[in-house]
Amino acid sequence: MKKGLNRRNFIKKTGTAGLGIALGSMAMSKYGCVRQPQLKTTPIAHLAAPPIEKVRVGYVGVGNQGGGHLRNLLRIDGVEIKAVCDIREERILWAQEQCLKAGKTKPTGYSRGPEDFKRMCDSEDLDLVYNATPWEWHVPISVKAMETGSHAATEVPGAITLEGCWETVETAEKYKKHCCTMENCNYDRTELMLLHMIRQGLFGELLHAECGYLHDLREWKFGTGRSPYYPKDWRLKYSIKRNGDLYPTHGLGPVAQWMDITRGNKFEYLVSMSSPSRGLKLEAVRLYGEDHPLAKTDYALGDVVTTLIKTYKGQTILVTHNTNSPRPYSRRILIQGTRGLARKYPEEKIYIEGISSPHRWEDLADYSEQYEHPLLTSLEEKAQGAGHGGMDFIEDYRLIQCLREGKPTDSDVYEGATISAVVALSEKSIAANSAPVEFPDFTRGKWKTRKPLGIVTA
Ligand SMILES: NC(=O)c1ccc[n+]([C@@H]2O[C@H](COP(=O)([O-])OP(=O)(O)OC[C@H]3O[C@@H](n4cnc5c(N)ncnc54)[C@H](O)[C@@H]3O)[C@@H](O)[C@H]2O)c1
Repeated sequence: MKKGLNRRNFIKKTGTAGLGIALGSMAMSKYGCVRQPQLKTTPIAHLAAPPIEKVRVGYVGVGNQGGGHLRNLLRIDGVEIKAVCDIREERILWAQEQCLKAGKTKPTGYSRGPEDFKRMCDSEDLDLVYNATPWEWHVPISVKAMETGSHAATEVPGAITLEGCWETVETAEKYKKHCCTMENCNYDRTELMLLHMIRQGLFGELLHAECGYLHDLREWKFGTGRSPYYPKDWRLKYSIKRNGDLYPTHGLGPVAQWMDITRGNKFEYLVSMSSPSRGLKLEAVRLYGEDHPLAKTDYALGDVVTTLIKTYKGQTILVTHNTNSPRPYSRRILIQGTRGLARKYPEEKIYIEGISSPHRWEDLADYSEQYEHPLLTSLEEKAQGAGHGGMDFIEDYRLIQCLREGKPTDSDVYEGATISAVVALSEKSIAANSAPVEFPDFTRGKWKTRKPLGIVTA
């Protein structure tokens, strides 16, 4: 490679990840022009790596979310935090203090700049590199982790470009490492219970789902929230640059598992539309006055981005992204089958033909005794007090459990790439006047024979 054209620039310039990715032909499909790279690696149906007795972890990005994961990991048996990495030294000191307070050894700190995770990966013996950094770092950190012999786990979304999605898939296949997009909402009580109900056939055949991320983040994006979130305004910068569903996985993660996406079913194509972009400019004027540069900034991100996905089995999924408007929090969450439906917001309700009184909602809570997911039953006490109502603890527990037992993880690189790909695909559809855009098949055909996620236990 020419001097001055490093790996990252190469990827940027060519739009391909390095490694073995050679671009396949620009094939015309019925949903437009599709670029499907020909990887040199082979898809793996269900990766199970050798069991690890004690999982040695390097944690990158110990900010708000990473700090929560670190505290969870300190409470899970069979974990050793060997190293922590953050561009802010004060966060390293905080993380080291947490480890010492928990009676563990002090992890080595890495804080010599944004690429210091490379030094950490090169110099430490790690089994798992877990990161909760701003989005642009998820792929470089995961890839470096796998290249240096570790499994990778990353906060959501796993990647924000299609090239990034492919690069994680190819690297995981090449090194036979787990690369997990850590979608905590897969482990929320209601989503787990709905999975349990779906597996028992309560809703009949699944027809349609609704989900999304509807969270008024204006104060966090401008750094005026209760705690100092998003240093260097990293999240705001994405709202300035990109118009798409920038955060699809909180809603889509559970729906993908319910509908067996990449495991007997797949997303076929999507169409997306965005509303006008108003909320951030209005907020900037309110906060700083009309003459402030942020009040004069044009924000690319439409306030409400709506995406419709069609699956191979013909189901439809409505996904909404809204982080710029005044509104209470919601992930929308609705599942409709041939026998009935359930929804999570604003109140949890269910209607099942033959069980519920005709045309009347019932409280979903009335079904919990029969349908509570066993993970919840066994981990609820341990998860008390952990982030996002305890679901973050359950997700971390399951990751470590699978690594220690040498079992496939609940969600793998194919599922992570597929739900994360919505960021880039929705952006593409919006830019093309809501044209349908086909999903890449990251499994390259293996989705037909991969087994659906079962009801796992702790
Ligand atoms: N699953 C969830 O519910 C949830 C909730 C919040 C955030 N997140 C995700 O977690 C990630 C982090 O979000 P956050 O809210 O914690 O943000 P944050 O800004 O609080 O934390 C990011 C941390 O990464 C550090 N950092 C930035 N660049 C780095 C680099 N190159 N190397 C090492 N450290 C670096 C920052 O100093 C900071 O401490 C994002 O991907 C976000 O989408 C997920």
